[in-house]
Amino acid sequence: MNRPIDLAAALASFTEAWSPRIVTTVNDYDIRLARFAGEHVWHVHTDTDEFFLVLDGTIDIGLREDGGERTVTLRRGEVFVVPCGVFHKPSSTGGAAVLLVEPTGTLSVGDEHDAVPDHVDATTGHRLSQV
Ligand code: NI
Repeated sequence: MNRPIDLAAALASFTEAWSPRIVTTVNDYDIRLARFAGEHVWHVHTDTDEFFLVLDGTIDIGLREDGGERTVTLRRGEVFVVPCGVFHKPSSTGGAAVLLVEPTGTLSVGDEHDAVPDHVDATTGHRLSQV
């Protein structure tokens, strides 16, 4: 049923880090909600950009581009797009809540990735329980 979704309630409905929930969809894209805590894994999406909006907390995104590596820091209310084909590794020292936009079916660990640690959920997103 199409109805308003309260992001705060959606966030309160799960505690797992690195395990995105699909809040809704727009055309062929998922709007996902995730908790970040500690380090994700270096990975790349070969066919799509990835949009990040920090709802709470602060995140870092490591990027490998132009033969080097840099880190962008995003605070609450800031957005960033990781371009298609760029290896990246999100992390959050203090924990964060993040809204992601990416095509439905996009794997959270990308198409190529380093070894996935146990605390990272390799998923195309989980359904949000009713909120
Ligand atoms: Ni990614």
